[in-house]
Amino acid sequence: MKKLIVTSMVLGAGFLLASAANAAITDSKHDLSGSATLNNPESQLCIYCHTPHHADTSAGDAPLWNHTLTTTATFTVYSSTTLDAGALGQPGGVSKLCLSCHDGTVALDAFGGMAGNLGSIGADGDLGINLSDDHPISFAYTSALATADGELYDPDGAGTGLGGDTITATMLFTGGLLECASCHDVHNNTGFDPMLLVDNTGSGLCLTCHNK
Ligand code: HEC
Ligand code: HEC
Ligand code: HEC
Ligand code: HEC
Repeated sequence: MKKLIVTSMVLGAGFLLASAANAAITDSKHDLSGSATLNNPESQLCIYCHTPHHADTSAGDAPLWNHTLTTTATFTVYSSTTLDAGALGQPGGVSKLCLSCHDGTVALDAFGGMAGNLGSIGADGDLGINLSDDHPISFAYTSALATADGELYDPDGAGTGLGGDTITATMLFTGGLLECASCHDVHNNTGFDPMLLVDNTGSGLCLTCHNK
């Protein structure tokens, strides 16, 4: 317990403030601290994904990353003739962090350099390495793209379809990138199922960006 608190203090000032909302990572699907976790005798919450020291920096924009990254998978990416963003590259940055569990190729408790005993993610969370049937990720969502598309809100503009809400900076990452975490809140602080940043009732999440 002591170690968990110390880890949280080091990593999580923002997280602790944000957890004033009703939901949290505890007891969410990202709370993997149950007793069956052979590699985690202290039932730590953050350890599967973060470490205060000796983090893996190879994914670039990765917050003190601790989970073993997919190195061998080659992903089939989304493509369509109407996609103004053009041909997409391999998933990068934040999405690569998610896919270290969600592509089903790496054990859930493979962290801190350990091999892991638990096996990979169950069918419900397994997106696989074929992402051609998933919303496009890992491309820049810019004003120019919004103009070219004609039915997207300007990510740098003020008002969107949601009563003046903006496409907030937290939805886009360094370079204006659209990633898994543009739609999902990995720490579940917002409490919108399934771990969404914006309530998707009436497709509210979609209408934050798409002007339809
Ligand atoms: C299932 C994996 C996972 C778990 C568990 C997890 N995180 Fe994260 N965390 C991420 C990912 C992925 C990002 C980067 C994406 C983002 O910021 O949305 C991140 C970003 C962060 C950041 C930087 C951005 C921000 O939100 O302020 C902090 C700080 C952080 N996590 C702290 C924590 C703490 C403290 C815990 C444990 C109480 C924790 N995380 C548990 C995956 C996780
Ligand atoms: C350490 C492994 C791990 C990482 C890293 C991770 N997840 Fe998960 N995630 C899980 C597991 C395990 C589940 C539960 C899957 C199941 O139900 O079988 C889950 C479930 C989910 C769910 C479904 C939630 C629900 O309530 O049904 C979403 C959405 C999700 N993850 C998104 C993300 C995103 C986005 C990222 C990166 C920002 C991420 N995850 C990173 C392990 C991880
Ligand atoms: C454009 C927004 C968006 C992006 C980008 C996105 N998701 Fe989701 N995701 C959703 C929504 C909305 C749902 C809920 C779908 C439903 O309820 O039918 C969902 C559901 C899920 C689930 C629950 C199981 C399922 O298949 O429905 C998981 C796991 C998940 N997402 C992981 C990810 C990961 C990992 C990434 C990046 C590779 C990602 N998501 C990118 C919007 C998004
Ligand atoms: C954070 C902003 C954002 C959110 C939220 C979002 N999208 Fe997108 N979506 C985009 C961008 C940007 C593109 C790329 C458009 C392009 O390049 O033509 C895109 C592409 C798409 C495409 C592919 C278009 C094509 O021409 O092939 C579809 C379909 C789509 N989104 C539907 C959805 C749905 C449904 C939701 C809600 C579950 C959603 N989006 C949520 C930003 C977003």
